[in-house]
Amino acid sequence: MQLEAGDKTIDESRQGEATMVKTKSGTGKKLLLESYGCAMNFSDSEIVASILSEEGFTTTKDAKEADVILLNTCSIREKAEDKIRNRLLAFKNMKLRRPSLIVGVLGCMAERLKETLLEQEKLVDLVVGPDAYRDLPNLIEHVGTGQKAVNVLLSREETYAEISPVRLNSNGINAYISIMRGCDNMCSFCVVPFTRGRERSRNPESIVNEAKELAANGYKEVTLLGQNVDSYKWNLTKKGEVKDEGLPTVSFAQLMEMVAKACPGLWIRFSTSHPKDLTDEVAEVIVKYDNICNYIHLPIQSGNNEILKKMNRGYTREWYLNRIEAIRRIAPKCSISTDIITGFCGETDDQHAETLSLMEEVRFDMAYMFKYSERPKTLAERKYEDDIPEATKAKRLSEVIEVQMKSSYDRIKKYVGTIQTVLVEGPSKKSEDDYAGRTSQNSMVVFPKGNAEKGTFVEVRILDCTTMTLKGELVG
Ligand code: SAH
Ligand code: SF4
Ligand code: F3S
Repeated sequence: MQLEAGDKTIDESRQGEATMVKTKSGTGKKLLLESYGCAMNFSDSEIVASILSEEGFTTTKDAKEADVILLNTCSIREKAEDKIRNRLLAFKNMKLRRPSLIVGVLGCMAERLKETLLEQEKLVDLVVGPDAYRDLPNLIEHVGTGQKAVNVLLSREETYAEISPVRLNSNGINAYISIMRGCDNMCSFCVVPFTRGRERSRNPESIVNEAKELAANGYKEVTLLGQNVDSYKWNLTKKGEVKDEGLPTVSFAQLMEMVAKACPGLWIRFSTSHPKDLTDEVAEVIVKYDNICNYIHLPIQSGNNEILKKMNRGYTREWYLNRIEAIRRIAPKCSISTDIITGFCGETDDQHAETLSLMEEVRFDMAYMFKYSERPKTLAERKYEDDIPEATKAKRLSEVIEVQMKSSYDRIKKYVGTIQTVLVEGPSKKSEDDYAGRTSQNSMVVFPKGNAEKGTFVEVRILDCTTMTLKGELVG
């Protein structure tokens, strides 16, 4: 469970993580690249690392020895931006003592704030939006001549399809594969359509090739990433018409099937699903392939129809419950997690109670829960008043958390007494004597190391659990 943290799939301890880059030739220039926000941003940093390693940059985790500092940033909630702003202020002070230092902002905050970061706030030398990373070498060179540089152009085509991401920061076991970019949904609370631009899907062949390459390099798990993976479409228009009769069309379920067949040794995960677009075929393909993990993240946001309508989510409570019913019927082994926002504009106590009752009805395995944070220029900011007092938002959040804690515990404890296949990810955070890994359902499992090895699949007998973690012992 994660409260008001960066975003799902990236745990709080990885926020601000520095990316290490392998150099090709070595210009002698040192780069510090820090990532914040969601998995898409961490994945993009691997693209940036790849582009700059081609230019001969080496990396450092120490700001003091960096020639260039780049922050790949997140705008999803005000707090996320505040944290980055503080980091930028620290670098601004560093720059006063060392004027040759280049500081740049990448990602969603760069796209949202554009020139103001340079002109009004005078925090940085370089502002580069998520679709302009190919231009980074030129822009850095430009800044090197004493000027400021901005490229925040959004693209309808850019998917960085053929750029092979640099994975040196990873554990060599799990990797992200970006399958689409942008979002066309316009949920009224959300800044992403403004920071990431229009939705576009990546060529399926390049996705399968990336997965194969990862498998060949010893990786054991890939997560297919997009803001709304269920609307992945290749060679199809938004309305579902074929674009080029001579080429195959590919839906998200078909894409998963292609990756699952091409890489039988890889576990395949995906994030994020959207309730309005999640089809039965996705659940069917999960069941058909053992290597597609039994886990669906399906954000609900609110359990009340009026709020869902104001959020512009495109589904009702009933539709959502029907999707849950379909998952449980077709793929009963699937665990299900969600996202919830408390205190959205005008939310009454009764409407909030409907979120709680929906949670009681679904019994999610896990949830990411947030207080509503108004974002400039979004539909909600323009149309509705952010009128729920902070204390009420917080009270409702704690109520939502309380229900979720109980449901997480109820759901996880059913695994006690079973034997689970676990992908060993590395030593547990708490003890060097234990390994930690995850099950297909995405539950964390901790067990004494024995003769197990990192990066392998092992069978673990589950003996006990807490709300978030299973504890067990190796079988055999
Ligand atoms: N594309 C994903 C969500 C990406 S943002 C989806 O549609 O499900 C991740 C989560 O952050 C959202 O699901 C939402 O719960 C939360 N979030 C987004 N904007 C927010 C805001 N303005 N205030 C609070 N939480 C927000
Ligand atoms: Fe934001 Fe909605 Fe798109 Fe998710 S689907 S990124 S919440 S606009
Ligand atoms: Fe944040 Fe941008 Fe991701 S706003 S959540 S980094 S898409």
